Amino acid sequence: MQAGLNQRIYLQDVAVRDGFQIEPRFIPTAEKIGLINALGRTGLAKIEVTSFTSPKAIPALADAEEVMLGIERVPGVVYTVLVPNMRGAERAMGCRADEFNLVMSVSETHNLTNLRMTREQSFAQLAEVIEFSRSSGVSLNVSLSCSFGCPMEGDIPADEVFHWAGRFIEMGVRGITLCDTTGMAYPTQVSDICRSFKQRWENTELTLHFHNTRGMGLANALSAVGAGVDRFDASLGGLGGCPYAPGATGNICTEDLAHMLELMGYDTAVDTEALIACARQLPAMLGHEIPGQVAKAGKVSDLHARPDWFAEVAQRAHEKAEKDRQRIAANR
Ligand code: COA
Ligand code: ZN
Repeated sequence: MQAGLNQRIYLQDVAVRDGFQIEPRFIPTAEKIGLINALGRTGLAKIEVTSFTSPKAIPALADAEEVMLGIERVPGVVYTVLVPNMRGAERAMGCRADEFNLVMSVSETHNLTNLRMTREQSFAQLAEVIEFSRSSGVSLNVSLSCSFGCPMEGDIPADEVFHWAGRFIEMGVRGITLCDTTGMAYPTQVSDICRSFKQRWENTELTLHFHNTRGMGLANALSAVGAGVDRFDASLGGLGGCPYAPGATGNICTEDLAHMLELMGYDTAVDTEALIACARQLPAMLGHEIPGQVAKAGKVSDLHARPDWFAEVAQRAHEKAEKDRQRIAANR
């Protein structure tokens, strides 16, 4: 029996937030809405729709309200939005988000470059957001950037990551996402951190958010699965990257991850064909190629036709094999 048989893995797409935030061309609001509506019908557990950040910091997502209010809500899909501060939470509150994904970095340097606040200032803002949201019915998740290392500071000790996670968990947040913002994580580090996290906080919904900057993304995801993690952020087409983290590139690719997990027998609930169809719209929409592999290569089950000359070559090979067999038999 295959290891993954029937084990549920939850896939959460972040392309329209983590991906579009770094695109040089503003994607028209109607195109964003069309893509999110199509993604909503692919069986994804969650879609990160946009971010309520400063439009000066992230101009690509300045249409957050219009997008959130314009999309279809497919039952069962959690529609989440990134929120960095109180102003963002106030804007998001009017937009029927199922979840606020609060963000700060466990690296002091990255937090200052990305959010222009110290980590303590960010924590204070987010604590205020948590209080503000308590009675609203909105779920709360906290994404901790640079959990596997910072491109400017280097190593971030696991205890530092757990310190910040613990402070939010004590405040009652439902989920924590450990983000590998610039693809510094490696598989043994991932399994150690995931195992320790799950030992400490078995009731907290843990998500892993990997970028494939150094080609270790899917290996890291499998390592996390082996450590008991069942929830991943990933990005259609492998788009993505934080504009305030030097060297950032795309997330692990949703359709590549879904395709691999499906082959291994995991239950992602996702229609991989439908995801691939969405990914194949991206190059025309964005004006450039995408990093994702399966949208280009097709699934392993998408077989190629044999070449025209195949029958003739096969026939000749068989004839020659038969002659050789007869010659060897005659020489015995
Ligand atoms: N939404 C809209 N506008 C916001 C805002 C928000 N969430 N937060 C702040 N602003 C506006 C303020 O109203 C102010 O506007 P004004 O200049 O017209 O008066 C301006 O932005 C500056 O406000 P300030 O509180 O000083 O913020 P800042 O300039 O220090 O920026 C952040 C702080 C967090 C808002 C900003 O750094 C940011 O949005 N970063 C997003 C980073 C990100 O998303 N990175 C990628 C994902 S990890
Ligand atoms: Zn990211």
